Amino acid sequence: MQLSEYSYIVLPEKTGHLETDVKNLLECNGKGKTYAHVADVAEANVEIALRFCLNASSCKTAALLHDISAIIAPGDMLDYAERNRFELCEAELRFPFLLHQRISRIIAENYFGISDKTVLSAIECHTTLRPNASLQDMALFIADKIAWDQPGVPPFDKAVRDALEHSLEQACLEYMTYMVDNDKILYPHILWSRALDWLHGK
Ligand SMILES: [Fe+2]
Ligand SMILES: [Fe+2]
Repeated sequence: MQLSEYSYIVLPEKTGHLETDVKNLLECNGKGKTYAHVADVAEANVEIALRFCLNASSCKTAALLHDISAIIAPGDMLDYAERNRFELCEAELRFPFLLHQRISRIIAENYFGISDKTVLSAIECHTTLRPNASLQDMALFIADKIAWDQPGVPPFDKAVRDALEHSLEQACLEYMTYMVDNDKILYPHILWSRALDWLHGK
């Protein structure tokens, strides 16, 4: 994906400092709120990384980049996915916003030059999780939910944080069960459903 092909995207000069470059790119494109969110997620993900002995630096990188596709219009994400023959599930066709995790991974790789597969994987499944998720995948998935981008404290906050005292798997299961039980799923993404089955089987 060439960001320069999208005439509405402003591309500030890169400094080589990831946090600054993410901030500049988001803010130049009217996504200051997204930057505030990813900065919160980065903080939460580093905390989780330290608790579970993960690489804090790669967890921070994944968090900073996970919603970088906010600069792309949802219609353009679907158009890109179709032109590049992505295999799309019904949920992505109905709600192209769900593609943002896949497009963020592509921007992380192509524009920011990220090659660490653990980072790219965590970005790519941060909304849906996936079966056989790595600890880094689960860490970003949970950090994104705890540091949520709406006012107040999320209704699942205490239950998920309590589960996090035990394991990342339990925290993911707690959050996903809350979402399903409270009819918060617009349409089940295939990875979400498979991840939930996988967690139930653990
Ligand atoms: Fe996201
Ligand atoms: Fe997010």
